[in-house]
Amino acid sequence: MKNCACSENPGNRLDLWKPLLPEDIQAGEDLHIRIAAPLVQEVKDSLDQQMISYKVLIPDVQEVVDQSMPMERKSHRQVQERYTYTQYHTMEEIYQWMTEIQKNNSELVTQHYLGTTFENRTMYYLQISQPSEKTKKIIWMDCGIHAREWISPAFCQWFVKEILQNYRTDPKISKFLQNLDLYVLPVLNIDGYIYSWEKDRLWRKNRSPHMNGTCYGTDLNRNFNSSWGSIGVSYDCSSEIFCGSGPESEPETRAVAQFIERKKSDILCYLTIHSYGQYILTPYGSTTKPPSNSEELMYVAEKAAAALMGKYGTSYKVGSTSSILYNNSGSSRDWAHMIGIPFSYTFELRDKGTHGFVLPPDQIQPTCEETMLAVTTIIDYVDQKYFPGGAVTLTSSSLGLSLCLSVVLTWTVL
Ligand code: ARG
Ligand code: ZN
Repeated sequence: MKNCACSENPGNRLDLWKPLLPEDIQAGEDLHIRIAAPLVQEVKDSLDQQMISYKVLIPDVQEVVDQSMPMERKSHRQVQERYTYTQYHTMEEIYQWMTEIQKNNSELVTQHYLGTTFENRTMYYLQISQPSEKTKKIIWMDCGIHAREWISPAFCQWFVKEILQNYRTDPKISKFLQNLDLYVLPVLNIDGYIYSWEKDRLWRKNRSPHMNGTCYGTDLNRNFNSSWGSIGVSYDCSSEIFCGSGPESEPETRAVAQFIERKKSDILCYLTIHSYGQYILTPYGSTTKPPSNSEELMYVAEKAAAALMGKYGTSYKVGSTSSILYNNSGSSRDWAHMIGIPFSYTFELRDKGTHGFVLPPDQIQPTCEETMLAVTTIIDYVDQKYFPGGAVTLTSSSLGLSLCLSVVLTWTVL
């Protein structure tokens, strides 16, 4: 089968991209819908009739999908000298990349088994640790929970590359690597990711069958054990937001949750990367009650968004999921915070709907560059908070204060 922009939802020919659930549609908010070609005119006419204004964001999703995967690249991709971080990569290439990256950076990087997917593929995470006697804390980052959000795995790879390229020269990175180990899971939903390359570019969920194979896939970001199944989910297995048959019913969720649970007292920060919409989301999505450290979470997220904006002017909205996006339960971000990881954020990367889930490859580099600034801002903050002092840097204000003091002292002596 040719990879198509074909929704496999029978009878669901209006595919909601924003919000994902009809009940989250709100007056005054934009709505993004993908409409099957034969229905376009009918939908336009009826919108006109009701005097609802609209704009065509993507005239032909299939064309964008085809463009983003040129034929020659799909069949036999050229073997390249260097890994190109400005392209999207197949899972096969990402597996190879992981092997290479640990081989070429063995002083810093190790690859570890995390679990096995429904279709029996191995999940690995990369650990970036500077050898040291000290006990360190952990920053966790995962990408690719949702299959079609290709920019997310691209960012995880970019992140690893940047750290390895710059840790010797960038004082910020070399400082936080003294105290923190970075654990990166480049693709959480491997089966879904492969399916989005081979069969349906817009596939979102994993690939576990339900109801005797009448429908496939659980939304892994609704499958964690945080108010599971209570709000913003569907129990219908053909839905894009099917939450699974129970909390952690999916092997991919279980692999991540069991690992994080085991390490939780050492994990200071949980970052999970999605697209699209340009948000930095804080817990919670399932309750409007803010977490006890919500002010600090907001402060740090805003700092991160400001750093991001400094690069190319891209603006991000910051806030709790339930207040700025929609309600959802069972997300990994909520779960991570609930089990005691203090800094837990979801990133929704570019764009705001112009290309939606099919972000063109020429935006990989700018997206990753700006996101890098946001992520390192967060890591830096966490580092300074839990490892104050360390390498003491003289700030202009502390310098000013000591000068001032010495003036006073000199004067007293006189
Ligand atoms: N990555 C998110 C998800 O699939 C998208 C969130 C908001 N953006 C959107 N277009 N609905 O759940
Ligand atoms: Zn997502």
